[in-house]
Amino acid sequence: KNQLFTYDPGFMSTASCKSAITYIDGDEGVLLHRGYPIEQLAENADYLEVSYLLLFGERPNKEQYREFESRVKKHTLVHEQISRFFHGFRRDSHPMAIMCGVSGALAAFYHDSTDVNNIYHRELTAYRLLAKMPTLAAMCYKYSIGQPFMYPQRHLSFSGNFLYMMFATPCEPYVVNPVLEKAMDKIFILHADHEQNASTSTVRTAASSGANPFACIAAGIASLWGPAHGGANEACINMLEEIGSVDRIPEYIEKAKDKNDPFRLMGFGHRVYKNYDPRAKVMRQTCHEVLKELDVQNPLLDVAMELERIALSDPYFVEHKLYPNVDFYSGIILKAIGIPVSMFTVMFALARTVGWIAHWKEMYNQGAIKIVRPRQIYIGHPQRDFDKMEK
Ligand code: SDX
Repeated sequence: KNQLFTYDPGFMSTASCKSAITYIDGDEGVLLHRGYPIEQLAENADYLEVSYLLLFGERPNKEQYREFESRVKKHTLVHEQISRFFHGFRRDSHPMAIMCGVSGALAAFYHDSTDVNNIYHRELTAYRLLAKMPTLAAMCYKYSIGQPFMYPQRHLSFSGNFLYMMFATPCEPYVVNPVLEKAMDKIFILHADHEQNASTSTVRTAASSGANPFACIAAGIASLWGPAHGGANEACINMLEEIGSVDRIPEYIEKAKDKNDPFRLMGFGHRVYKNYDPRAKVMRQTCHEVLKELDVQNPLLDVAMELERIALSDPYFVEHKLYPNVDFYSGIILKAIGIPVSMFTVMFALARTVGWIAHWKEMYNQGAIKIVRPRQIYIGHPQRDFDKMEK
C-alpha cells in the first residue's frame, strides 16, 4: 500500500503539479479516483456519484447525493439566447467546433460565476458547467440534423436526460431505454478524469493565468479535439470501418509498424499506460453486454477483437508496450446507443468536464496560483544585427 505514494526523484522532476484527484500506475494498469479503483466505480457508482467524489474528495452519502443531484438539475437549462448563438454556425459544422465556441461563450451569460477569486462564484461555476455541458452537447446534435432543441427533464437521471435531449422530439413520447442509460452513464464514468492528460493540463495552464472557468473549459475542449487525444474515439471507429473485415487486419498492422507510414492504430498506445488501460477492459466488457442486451450484431466488434488479438501477439506492439486504450471500444458502444460518429469526441468532452473542473477547483484550494510558464531549449540563431534595408 505505502509503495503507492513513493516517487523516484526522476519522476518528481518531470511532474507538473501535485494533485490528490487521480492516481495512475501506467506499468500496472491501475487507475484510482480519490483512491477508488475505476473498475469498482464503473460497477457500483453512477456518473453523478463519481462527479461528487472528484469534486469534493469523498463519496456522497444518500442525503449529499440527493442535494448534489438536485443542484445539478437546477442548472441544466442554458440561457435562451445561446440557442441563437448556435444558429450562427453552419449545420454541417463539426460539433467540437461548436462546443469550443459555445462553452467559452457561457462567460458572456453567467457573469455571477466568473470571478475566480470568489469561492461562491467557483462553486456555482462547477454546478453550471457540469449541468450545462450535456444540454449544449445535445443542442449540437439537434442543430446538425435540423430538429428542435429539447429542454432538459428534471425527472430523468443525468444520463437519461442526456439521451432524452439527444433523441426525443416534440412529436412523440420518448421513453429512456435503461440499457442505453446505464451504458451512457458508464461511458461518462470511464472518461471523467485521467490525471494530467493534455486537455487537463491545458485547463490548468489556462486557469493559472486567472482566466475565467468557461474560457478554461473551452481551452480544454480544443485540446481534447486532437486525434492523438480525445479525437481518437472518432478516428478509431473510422479506422475499424475502413478495415471493414477481419481478413484486412494484417495489412493495417503492417502499416502501423511502418516507420515511413504516418498511420497509427487508433485506440492503441498511451503516453502513460504501458499495460492494458483498465478503462479499456471495462469498455470491452460493456461492449459485449450492451450488444447482447440490444441483440445487436456489430461486425466492427469482431474486427476490434481480432485486431486486438493479433496486435497483442505481434512483437512490435509487445516491444513498444502498445495496448488498447479507452478509445478502442468506446465507439462501438456509442454507435449502439445511436450517437453519431461526429459526436464521439463531444461525449468525451461532456464526461471530462467534471475532471477539468475538479483540477481547476484544486488549484484554487491549494492556495496562491503561480502562472504556468515552461522554459525551452533555444535552437535558433545566435544574436545578429538587423541593418536598415533601402526600400
Ligand atoms: C487519450 O494522456 C491521457 O491520459 C489521455 C487519455 C485521457 O483519458 O485523457 O487517456 C485519452 O488520449 C488516449 C490516447 C488516444 N490516442 C490514440 O489512441 C491515438 C493513437 N495512439 C498514439 O498516437 C500514441 O500511442 C499516443 C499519442 C497515445 C501516445 O504516444 P506516445 O506515448 O508519445 O508514444 P510515442 O508516440 O512516443 O510512440 C512510441 C512508439 C513509437 O515508435 P518508435 O518511434 O519508438 O519506433 O510506439 C509507436 C510510435 O511510432 N506507437 C504506435 C502507436 N502508438 C505509439 N505505433 C502504432 N500505432 C500506435 N497507436
